[in-house]
Amino acid sequence: MSIRPIRSADHAALLALWQRTPGICIRPEDAFEPFCAYLLRNPDLSLLSEIDGRLAGCVLVGHDGRRGYLQHLVVDQAYRGRGLAQALLVETLARLAALGVQKSHVFVLRDAPEALAFWEAQPGWGPREDIQLYSTRRVSA
Ligand SMILES: CC(C)(COP(=O)(O)OP(=O)(O)OC[C@H]1O[C@@H](n2cnc3c(N)ncnc32)[C@H](O)[C@@H]1OP(=O)(O)O)[C@@H](O)C(=O)NCCC(=O)NCCS
Repeated sequence: MSIRPIRSADHAALLALWQRTPGICIRPEDAFEPFCAYLLRNPDLSLLSEIDGRLAGCVLVGHDGRRGYLQHLVVDQAYRGRGLAQALLVETLARLAALGVQKSHVFVLRDAPEALAFWEAQPGWGPREDIQLYSTRRVSA
């Protein structure tokens, strides 16, 4: 298993992975152009893992200079239960720490039992009961 930064050329394979993964919602930001802009804004932070040259897992990672944010942590069905997500997470946090970002967040849907089980098992991670998240999306006129 190898881990490397995601490049713009990986978009098609990643989009296919996200589309075939139940629980992953495809958003307008997952289109090619915003995906590339995100990678440019957060160089070498988003990672994918490969096994025998095949895409096995990925995570999108960004930061605002203060906190890290993880999205689309996905391991393809055939490769689950081998520690791939954990390995992606370890590498992600090391890269964020190298940039001075020591604290990170991930938003997990309450009806995603696999994801919740994964995050509950991660040492040093815990659910925030003290925060209610509010979101908005600007609607173009
Ligand atoms: C969540 C997900 C990324 C985990 O990937 P993975 O590579 O199978 O996870 P790992 O093998 O690294 O798991 C590490 C630990 O998390 C826990 N864990 C992971 N998946 C679990 C599950 N389905 N049930 C219970 N515990 C689980 C275990 O403690 C595991 O360690 P162990 O195997 O030594 O017991 C994968 O199930 C997935 O892609 N799910 C669909 C997409 C998704 O919901 N992503 C999360 C978005 S926030």
